[in-house]
Amino acid sequence: MVELLTDEAGLNRAVEILQADECVALPTETVYGLAADAASETAVAGIFASKGRPSDHPLIVHISGFDQLESWATNIPTSAKLLAEAFWPGPLTLLLEKASHVSKVVTGGHETIAMRAPGHPLFHQVLKVSGLGLAAPSANRYKKLSPTSAAQVISGMAGRIPAVLDGGPCEFGLESTIIDLTSDQPTIVRSGPIAREALEAVLGCDVLLPKQHNVAVPGNVEAHYQPNARLKKLDVDGLVTYAKNSSSACMVFSNAAKEALQGLGIDASRVRKLSAEPGPYGHDLYRTLFELDQAGFEEILVEQTPDSEAWAAVNDRLNRASS
Ligand code: TXA
Ligand code: MG
Repeated sequence: MVELLTDEAGLNRAVEILQADECVALPTETVYGLAADAASETAVAGIFASKGRPSDHPLIVHISGFDQLESWATNIPTSAKLLAEAFWPGPLTLLLEKASHVSKVVTGGHETIAMRAPGHPLFHQVLKVSGLGLAAPSANRYKKLSPTSAAQVISGMAGRIPAVLDGGPCEFGLESTIIDLTSDQPTIVRSGPIAREALEAVLGCDVLLPKQHNVAVPGNVEAHYQPNARLKKLDVDGLVTYAKNSSSACMVFSNAAKEALQGLGIDASRVRKLSAEPGPYGHDLYRTLFELDQAGFEEILVEQTPDSEAWAAVNDRLNRASS
């Protein structure tokens, strides 16, 4: 059983677990994280074991703010300060050179370290009360969907972690944007809630956004964020034709697709209509896939989302989920 922690007492219990070198799932504004003391090799090893994650996949270290950054990173560029001032606490992760004393267990063997100050008030309080830096990957089993509610954590991690602190549904529903600041050319290595334009406005320079996020680190694998059901991406016509001859679920965003499915008499229980805006679509993506899994569908037909930069974070997750 995973203990569901709530209130002040729950928060104190979460801190106690962390101080005993164990993992606990905590809410962030992006997705739920599986947290452990980033300075303890034993605690960090517990994260890898609970997730079934290969030990060479680097973790993000969470801190309360910019003033903590020097304890973990070195040669911190001015760009990091600018971005932290603009976006922390919030869904932005900075990739920096790691400080020499930081164990490579947390960085998956790399000389770089990913750092973020999360915006969720409960996570912030846990950081403050514990005084720790917390390594925290998404609180799911390796390659599975990231959880956006405590119930989803419990469903995925039963028997693998002692507890989850309930902070309600996540505000963004997709993982943080990661920007690599270790070279002269700031580069987005994972799209997320904070868009390239917003980063460029703060930095006053170009930020690279590779069409595919293929940084040469493990942890950035093609098959990721996967529901149990198979995902099949189709345009509206293809989706409607396929839906007619199958019992698969349909996940659409356009009214055209929704109406065409209705016109065919497809049962409403098979159809999920998400927003036609990328932010709200991203917010509901993992939850919807999770619910369709729970309903037992073996296949999900996904209406192809627009190929524009505003959809980069959603498209990255959908590509990996359907890989
Ligand atoms: O929103 C988020 O970032 C969530 C919440 C819990 O904070 N965390 C999260 O962690 O998504 P995780 O472990 O699921 O994804 C972290 C990714 C890794 O897969 C890897 O691609 C990248 O961050 N990363 C971390 N450290 C890195 C490093 N030193 N070099 C390159 N990439 C790194
Ligand atoms: Mg993850």
